[in-house]
Formats: sequence, structure tokens, C-alpha cells
Amino acid sequence: MSAEDDHSVSPLPPAALDDPHLQPYARRPEAAQTVAAVAMVIGFLGFIGFGVSYWVVASTQWQAATFGIGLFGFGFGVTAWGKYLMPQGPFVEERHQFHSTEAERDAMTAAVVERGGMVVKRRKVLGGLFALGSTAMGIVLLFPLLRSLGPKPGRTLFQTNWKKGSKAVTINGRQVYEEDLEVGGVMTVFPEGFEGSSPDQVILIRLADTTQPLSAPGRTSWGVAGYVAYSKLCTHLGCPVGLYQEQTQQLVCPCHQSVFNVLAGAVPEFGPAPRPLPQLPITVDAQGRLRANGTFDQAVGPGFWERP
Ligand code: FES
Repeated sequence: MSAEDDHSVSPLPPAALDDPHLQPYARRPEAAQTVAAVAMVIGFLGFIGFGVSYWVVASTQWQAATFGIGLFGFGFGVTAWGKYLMPQGPFVEERHQFHSTEAERDAMTAAVVERGGMVVKRRKVLGGLFALGSTAMGIVLLFPLLRSLGPKPGRTLFQTNWKKGSKAVTINGRQVYEEDLEVGGVMTVFPEGFEGSSPDQVILIRLADTTQPLSAPGRTSWGVAGYVAYSKLCTHLGCPVGLYQEQTQQLVCPCHQSVFNVLAGAVPEFGPAPRPLPQLPITVDAQGRLRANGTFDQAVGPGFWERP
């Protein structure tokens, strides 16, 4: 058997054991090996625990705790291996010669083999645990990518559930009628069957008690009976734009104070919002029910990668 194959421990020479500077772990390399191995096993189990808790969507506390245990255990084990079981310095290299002689290289090889063989009894075990732990860590780090990717959005970011004829209902599903709002009143409505759907939320505003449509130039048929309707999602970062100032007929986003001119097609007049709130054309049917008369004129909400 060659010296490299022989991983059994050669006990320290008695003279070395008498060295008062000898660290306690150097006297008991078996214990250091066990500590490093146990720590790496704990780290491995921590990573597995993180993968499981992430996959089953456990609480963030569980995910943090298990990943922390994995990192700490694995890091401690690897550190212990390097610090206590590898040949320790200081190593001094003679600088006056840049080329080692054959004899020096042989001596160095022998010294490394001897020092490594002196303390590392189960190098393969530690190496295997290192590979196991680092593989587990690498795999679970892919989990956020694999587990959190949803289906491709496709055209869904450009569409909502509003379509021509959709009944406007409250979040409780109650049909909204023409006489429901006083002048200056606002109400959040949804298409029937999609109550509570965030991208579908619309702010309905009664601007005037009139049968005349009120809307921006070029959209005179988009409002009805003094009502106009806009997407409630701010075009800045998507906060619900729910503050209506009746006197100035402006909508205000509470997040970053973007101000939209309701009479001018909800164009932003102040704040970081880059685009008007998309408008929903509405109408009133023979029973006085408010309905959509089409869909939004553009995608609702903030910009995304296909819509700067
Ligand atoms: S989200 Fe409305 S102004 Fe920022």
C-alpha cells in the first residue's frame, strides 16, 4: 500500500506530545475529525430541511432557521477540518532559490504526506461529507428559482376580466345601479364573478348629476350619466388609487402622491406616475345597471418588461 492510500493515523511521536505548545486538538485528532464530521452532517440536514420547508411553503422563520443551521453547520465543519486537521503553518519558503531541487521536492512530498497522514484518519469520509453538503447546498439554492417560478404570464398582463357587457359589482357581489352614488361619490367595483380580483379593481366616480357623458376629449362615449371609471392600480408601482378630491376632481395615490386629473383622462399631473390610469368605458343598461362597454384602453398597473 502506498503512503497516499494509507489514511490510518500514525500517532504523534512521544517527543511531539511533550511539546507544551501543542494544541489540545492535535493531541486528539480523532475528536477533531468527529466534530468536523458531525457539524457537516448537521449542515447537510439543515440544507435538506430548508429545501423541504421551502417546497411546502413553510413559514419564513422555518426557512431562515433551517438554512441558517445548514450554513452554520457546514461552515463550522469545513472550518474545523481546515483549521484542526490540515497541516498547520507557519510555513517558510526559502527565497534565495526559486527552483527546488529534486531532493527538496521529494522531501516536501514526504513531509506533506506524513503530516497529512498524521492527523487525517478518514479523509475520504470528510471529503465525502464535504461533497454531500456542498451538493445539497447547491441544489437547495436552486429551490427559490425552481419553486418560485410560476407559469409564463403570456398576454395576461395586458388583459383583465373586464369585457363588453360585464356587470359592475361591489366586492360583495352586489350589482351597482345608476342611482347608487351621489355626485362626488366613489366606489370600488369589479366585473361580476371576479370580486376582489386585484388587477380588475376599478374606481367608479360620479362627477355630475347629468345624463351627459363626461370624459376626456375623444372619449365622450366612455363615461355615462356623470360616471367615469378608471383602473384603481397606480401606474407607478401599483398601489390602489383610492383618494378622490371632489373639489379639484383629482385622484391621489396614497403611496407616492401621484395626482391624476379625472376630467382629462386621469393623466398624471404630479408625482412619479408615468402614465394615465387606464380608463374603462361604461354604460347603463335598461334596468339601470352599470356595465362595461368594452375593456381598458391599455394594460393596467405599473410597467413591466414588455411595457416600459
Ligand atoms: S404607487 Fe402610486 S405614486 Fe407610487
